[in-house]
Amino acid sequence: MTRSRIAGTGRAVPPRKLTNDDLSKMVDTSDSWIFERTGIRERHILDSSLAASDLAAEAGRKACLAAGVDPAAVDCIIVGTVTGDCPFPATATFVQKKLGAKPGGCAFDLSAACAGFLYGVSIADGFIRGGQFKNVLVVGVEVLSRIVDWTDRSTCVLFGDGAGAVLMTAEREGRRGLLSTHLFADGSLTEILWQPAGGSREPMNAENLAAKRHLVKMNGREVYKHAVRNMTASAFAALEANGLKADDVAWVVGHQANLRILEGVSERVGIPMERFFLNVDRYGNTSSASVPTALDEAIEQKKVRDGDLLLFTALGGGLAWASAMVRW
Ligand code: ACO
Repeated sequence: MTRSRIAGTGRAVPPRKLTNDDLSKMVDTSDSWIFERTGIRERHILDSSLAASDLAAEAGRKACLAAGVDPAAVDCIIVGTVTGDCPFPATATFVQKKLGAKPGGCAFDLSAACAGFLYGVSIADGFIRGGQFKNVLVVGVEVLSRIVDWTDRSTCVLFGDGAGAVLMTAEREGRRGLLSTHLFADGSLTEILWQPAGGSREPMNAENLAAKRHLVKMNGREVYKHAVRNMTASAFAALEANGLKADDVAWVVGHQANLRILEGVSERVGIPMERFFLNVDRYGNTSSASVPTALDEAIEQKKVRDGDLLLFTALGGGLAWASAMVRW
């Protein structure tokens, strides 16, 4: 049976760090408030001369190198992002050019906020199993610093910039590879986390700009509740679909929004925090980039062994959420 598998991973994180102490000079907050509520110590901010595609291409190049695949042989690029280079064309097309990927291959963006990377992995899996594309690059990239309200302490302390990528190919024999994906959304909750202006609903004009409608709006408490509930449900969906128990999972690579959300999922799913890979302290919430960035660090730190079962789960604006199970 043909499966898809992750053949290589990569990440790109801007060098400039913004610590909690730095933030406390910008808004009325403190390192202790932020750390106790979120587990975040610092986040990285992209230089104003660069765009999402620069980070995405760097992460993609590293994923190709790790997979031993020439970028010129990448025939499909899927970029999950809500902070792409521009409304159109797709950030993936800029990435295709910067990476030197196959011209005439397919390249598109998808919008599923923090679940965007896992949505992309699921689509890539379908393309590979169906034989439509051979080397699919899936990237999660965000430059959230460009859409955060830096005067709103309830949101600006949470987010950071970054990119993570995986190169997916076919696995024709053996047990390893992507075992399942589960994708979900609930469109009755669009307004608890969104960027209202800048599209056809509320086009950019002086009035919307003055009202800061082009910046992130969030009901943190509501998001928190749904994140714990739905990331847990999607984790159980992955376990049940594969006939697995919590004990079988070597690592959970969950969306790094907030340490307390992941602790809530850990308690409910019954997988101890020691088996959750964490990097939220150093990057904050990088939305679609968070899962592939965490995976890349886990690989780099040699935490993952051949045959390990990895459970992925993420939730974000939409609301959209997803899970995946991988045998490494
Ligand atoms: N520093 C100091 N005080 C703050 C800050 C801050 N940065 N932000 C808010 N406060 C204050 C509030 O003004 C409020 O003060 P008041 O009681 O005088 O009115 C008080 O702290 C409590 O505010 P709450 O919003 O109720 O704080 P809560 O304990 O819910 O924590 C938080 C807020 C951290 C945002 C939490 O709701 C959360 O983690 N939500 C999840 C949101 C999230 O992760 N979003 C990311 C995108 S979605 C995703 O990736 C899953």
